[in-house]
Order: sequence, then C-alpha cells, then structure tokens
Amino acid sequence: RFAYVNGQFVRHGEAAVHIEDRGYQLADGVYEVWAVFDGKLVDAEGHFARLWRSLDELRIAHPMSEAALTLVLREAVRRNKVREGLVYLQVTRGVARRDHAFPNPAVPPSVVITAKSIDRAATNAKAEKGGSVISVPENRWGRCDIKSIGLLPNALAKQAARERGAVEAWFVDDMGLVTEGASSNAWIVDAEGTLRTRDTNANILRGVTRSTLLEVIREAGLPISEKPFTIAEAQAAKEAFITGAGSLVTPIVQVDGVKLGDGQAGPVAMKLRRAYIARAR
Ligand code: PDD
Repeated sequence: RFAYVNGQFVRHGEAAVHIEDRGYQLADGVYEVWAVFDGKLVDAEGHFARLWRSLDELRIAHPMSEAALTLVLREAVRRNKVREGLVYLQVTRGVARRDHAFPNPAVPPSVVITAKSIDRAATNAKAEKGGSVISVPENRWGRCDIKSIGLLPNALAKQAARERGAVEAWFVDDMGLVTEGASSNAWIVDAEGTLRTRDTNANILRGVTRSTLLEVIREAGLPISEKPFTIAEAQAAKEAFITGAGSLVTPIVQVDGVKLGDGQAGPVAMKLRRAYIARAR
C-alpha cells in the first residue's frame, strides 16, 4: 500500500508526519472520506465543497486546487488498486513549535491521503441484516458542522457501541433529540411512514450522503421531513437507518435494546440503499 504525504507517495508502512504537526498535538485539522465505487470517487463535488468550507472556517490555507487534489486522490486509488473502498484525506495547519495560537508566519498545511479496499459483498450482506444503535449524551463542541479531526467524543461513543454489539452510537441532545451518529447521520421512517432526519441548522455535520439521499427521496416522491426525533420515536418507528461515506445507507433494527417492528432491515431503507448505490456507480 501507498500513502500520499505532503507532495509524494511513500510506502504506507513508512509514511509519517512530524511530531510537532498541529494535527497530532492539537487536532488542528480537518478531514474528508470518499466512498470508491468501481474505482471512482462518489459524490466528489459535495466532499470537496465541504472540505473547502471546513478549511475556511478554521482559517487553514487550501493546500492545492480542486483539480490538483482530484488528480492526487485518483492516483491514491490507482496506486492502491482500489475498486471498492474508501479514500481518506487529512489537512492540518502544519508543523510548528507547540503553541495553541496559529503559527506566525503561517506554515504550509500538511496533507495526508490513504486509500483502502473494502469487501463490498460482505458489507452488503451485513446491511441486509441490519445493525443496532445505542444512545449516548451529546458531549461534543458547538461546531460539529466542521469536519474536524478532533474526534474524541465520537471515538468514545463508537467504542461504547462496539462493546454493546452495536454498529453506531447516536448522540442525544439535552432536549432528548437525536443529533447524529458518531460517524453517520441518523434517520427514521416514523410511525406515519414519513422519512425523518435532523435539519442541518442543528449542531451536526452536513452529510454528503445525507444530501444526495434527500435528492433520491425527493425524486422518488417519498414523504420527507427534516425534523429531529427522540429515542422513543425511533423505537416506535417503522424503520431506522444511518448514512455516511462508510455506511452508505445501513438499516438499523434495534435502538437501545428495543427492536423496531419485526427486527428485520426495513424495506424503505433497503430500497434507498440500492438506489444510492445505483446512482453512485
Ligand atoms: N464520517 N456525521 C458524522 C459525525 C460523520 O463523521 C460523518 C462521516 C457523517 C456522514 O457524512 P458523509 O455522508 O458526508 O460521509 C455524519 C466519515 C465517513 C468518517 O468519519 O469516517
């Protein structure tokens, strides 16, 4: 395997950044993850748009143009012989002597890219069975719209989920409403049959998969409401699912130990998964 580090491809096992990289010391950086289908980046533009916005919000310089970055991402896919998989990009404010405030003068941002293959047949089979989620109290900062590499609450939430055999943890705010998952957006098909996912005025990441799926849903003429829901509503829902570059559209069959309906992956979620994948290919 090969990784891209600041201008060159190096062997994955030997890829490294400096110990005083601000990503390493301060989580002062952002990231993006693209799904790869048939060797192609999925929803490329949406992820680029969010990357530039995340960088601008943190006042980190753009390390290269979109055209140049596209070439490097494709090269990462090609060199790692990825047909089905994921590409990871990380940009940090760069390497400087440790100081919380920005380096002055500014230093060049650090760029790292990795690409890995995934077994699409195995993840499809898993999706067909559905997974469970647990809820955890929302304890993240107020700028979850920025795709920051500061992921400690997300990592702790995901670990709690894994220890309980769940695929995802849903953060619940102090109003009792689900914000999103540790690495995905949260959806239900409510008791009335309306698709529901939280609006992006809330403190959540604007998922690119979420946006594309909203288009798929509107084109299909399905009832949709960008309105948050509680854990009790999710437990009483017909279906639930999560979306993200990693999970695509993955049915959820159990919420905090309560089975949804008959405990099988929901038909709407599975239909949307197939529609999303068909569009990505
Ligand atoms: N996670 N919410 C959070 C907190 C996320 O980390 C992610 C993505 C999403 C879904 O966004 P998108 O549809 O643009 O992938 C929502 C990536 C996949 C990750 O951390 O690996």
